[in-house]
Amino acid sequence: MIPFSPPRIDERIINEVADALRSGWITTGPKTKLFEKKIANYCNVSNVLAVNSWTTGAELLLYWFGIKEGDEVIVPVYTYCASANIVIHRGAKVIMVDVTSDFGIDISKIEKHITSKTKAIIPVDVGGLPVQFDELTALVNKPKIKDKFNPQSENQEKLGRIMILSDAAHSFGAKYNGLNVGSEVDFTVFSFHAVKNLTTAEGGAICINLPKPFDNTEIYKQLNTLSLHGQNKDALAKTQKGSWEYDVIDAGFKCNMTDILASIGLVEFDRYELDTLPKRKHIFDTYSKELYKYDWAITPTCKDEKRESSYHLYLLRIKGITLEIRNQIIQDVFEQEVSVNVHYKPLPLLSYYKLLGYEINNYPNAKSLWENEISLPVYYDLSVENVNAIIKAVVNAVESNI
Ligand SMILES: Cc1ncc(COP(=O)(O)O)c(C=O)c1O
Repeated sequence: MIPFSPPRIDERIINEVADALRSGWITTGPKTKLFEKKIANYCNVSNVLAVNSWTTGAELLLYWFGIKEGDEVIVPVYTYCASANIVIHRGAKVIMVDVTSDFGIDISKIEKHITSKTKAIIPVDVGGLPVQFDELTALVNKPKIKDKFNPQSENQEKLGRIMILSDAAHSFGAKYNGLNVGSEVDFTVFSFHAVKNLTTAEGGAICINLPKPFDNTEIYKQLNTLSLHGQNKDALAKTQKGSWEYDVIDAGFKCNMTDILASIGLVEFDRYELDTLPKRKHIFDTYSKELYKYDWAITPTCKDEKRESSYHLYLLRIKGITLEIRNQIIQDVFEQEVSVNVHYKPLPLLSYYKLLGYEINNYPNAKSLWENEISLPVYYDLSVENVNAIIKAVVNAVESNI
């Protein structure tokens, strides 16, 4: 069976992890701090905080911004549940917005959902294609929208508008206006979960990019403290002579990255731009070149004047099929020993959100994307033979069902 997305674990990774273990320092320490610096440099921001998942990092930011019960946060309907669950964890309300045909939030539909309760927008770079950040930034800065903003915490007062927290779980290394994403909006959060382009097994990173009068280095310190229970000294600092005593200044989270995870990340990072990304792009290009020949295939957008994908998920769509046929095609592809997947089942189709009253028919684009989408395997060790076998299996399965 050709798997969907196994991680690239080789001797280099194993040796680096062994090095972390042997060093005697296994929690947050020098490797994590080096990893943060490398990501900050790559993403054109002054400060990056490494955390133990996208989910905890993003929730920490909602907490930092003072989001609470009674607030509203705008989230695209077509995403992984994490983008919305963090809002629920904070007691706030998820306001879902439909998406466009490239899977990103439909920015033209956001404004009508903004109220005086709106505190944040969480756009998602689905599959690795960045959303149109310029349009989003222009939207939250519109005088009419800023006037509606009703700040209820010190940080909300200071920002003076809706916060944009980019769910970049898929888009590490994607380009926007020629730069690696990370410096477009207030916060950009990556995921380094096992299936992601760059993995640390579990993990994530927050790019801090707040406008003035915020001091991003100061915000890094605040978030770092909040990621360690609000404890004002980390484990490394406490080992220094005479530094055992610490204080707790907030009921913080516990979501720091460990040096064992960072050691995987450092190897992954080193080979990311020149090895991992070109390989993934090549797989995408081969799929598109071959599938483009069939008039039933809608191949994913990977590049336009402003944006280039990180080539994370190959989101193939089959023209004009029903959900039943899509499911049968998936079954038939699996029968040919190829694993495929679907990204995503829109949130209103999931029991928890359905029970809260969200209704899929209010999001026609998401419904139609979901009904005809199939994600194909993309990973570093996928051979040319495997890519050809996958294409053959998909073509067979589609042509025998439409
Ligand atoms: C779009 C999106 N957002 C958030 C997450 C959550 O990431 P993590 O598992 O690192 O918490 C994922 C994970 O798959 C995701 O796909």
